[in-house]
Amino acid sequence: MHKASSLSELGFDSGGASSGFFRPVADGCPPATPTSSAAPHRRLTKVSVIGAGNVGMAIAQTILTQNLADEIALVDALPDKLRGEALDLQHAAAFLPRVRIVSGTDAAVTRNSDLVIVTAGARQIPGETRLNLLQRNVALYRKIVPPVAEHSPEALLLVVSNPVDVLTYVAWRLSGFPASRVIGSGTNLDSSRFRFLIAEHLDVNAQDVQAYMVGEHGDSSVAIWSSISVGGMPAFKSLRDSHRNFDEAALEGIRRAVVGGAYEVIGLKGYTSWAIGYSVASLAASLLRDQRRVHPVSVLASGFHGISDGHEGVPQPARPPWPRRHPRRRRDGPHRGRGRAAPPLRQDALGELPAPRPLTEERQLIYIYLL
Ligand SMILES: NC(=O)c1ccc[n+]([C@@H]2O[C@H](COP(=O)([O-])OP(=O)(O)OC[C@H]3O[C@@H](n4cnc5c(N)ncnc54)[C@H](O)[C@@H]3O)[C@@H](O)[C@H]2O)c1
Repeated sequence: MHKASSLSELGFDSGGASSGFFRPVADGCPPATPTSSAAPHRRLTKVSVIGAGNVGMAIAQTILTQNLADEIALVDALPDKLRGEALDLQHAAAFLPRVRIVSGTDAAVTRNSDLVIVTAGARQIPGETRLNLLQRNVALYRKIVPPVAEHSPEALLLVVSNPVDVLTYVAWRLSGFPASRVIGSGTNLDSSRFRFLIAEHLDVNAQDVQAYMVGEHGDSSVAIWSSISVGGMPAFKSLRDSHRNFDEAALEGIRRAVVGGAYEVIGLKGYTSWAIGYSVASLAASLLRDQRRVHPVSVLASGFHGISDGHEGVPQPARPPWPRRHPRRRRDGPHRGRGRAAPPLRQDALGELPAPRPLTEERQLIYIYLL
């Protein structure tokens, strides 16, 4: 049965209603050039979120409240849930920046996006690992990514579904995009959990704590203890020397709490949403506003520490296109042994994928960070 939307009940066509009330988002991708002698035409920003589940909606609403987009497109396979989520957000219009919200089960609604965020897919049930989701989510990505890439050939693709590092690689191959336009949310969230826990331990504001988790998102992520700074001051050595609570047990407790953070939340409320929403919105802000911030995200790691063809979370300046910037992981130092390497992924687990787009020299450019 066709369900009328609240807009169509008022006599507006739901698909076209917004055209009369909202600024149209330009169909093409015109640069910000004056169109006439009148006011200059500003290039409007469109963000699409594929998967209107817990994670997708937390991301969409954070992007909405932070005024990062002029249009947000939501896509999901469940039409009623999708329509309900879109209407629920639209009903908050009186309290929010003016943003056009469109939704549909067809990827066509994402047409001409600047940024496409993919959250669709199975999520962990309590106790389940992220890698367990691989087969189901690779199958889903085969259906989702090609049409999305076709409708927005110039977009940046940001992968969030798990296992995020592997799916970023899969999305890159399926999209046919250059590697510089496909990233995964990587260990941005793990690093935020890390910063929160250190801040709690030291009783300071988490925004004044810099610290990175790198490697594969989740179970095998590695705490870079030497990256900790508080208020701009390198903190690890002096903390160890002077702070009697900052001992081995405390470090291990913090690392375990970071790695176990998602399991704990999923065990308690069934899923994670708010922190990943803010984490991905921070990536969207950096990308769309070209803020030149450094985030630990999944990028194609080619020619880095023996990795020839795979994605993993490393600190990157998040801006389009992303040059290859990788931390040089020291084999010694305080973070040694505080995380385990991810098990090698069998390529046949992914099945047949389109041939990778050849890497150019420019994309393989590697800057070394000394952490
Ligand atoms: N990278 C991270 O740090 C991170 C953090 C949290 C969750 N996640 C991952 O995000 C994903 C989503 O989690 P969630 O809690 O939102 O799950 P969810 O079940 O609430 O939402 C998934 C949504 O995907 C939709 N979907 C399924 N098939 C689709 C299709 N073909 N096209 C469009 N939409 C489709 C479902 O209808 C559902 O609404 C999971 O894989 C989860 O593990 C990643």
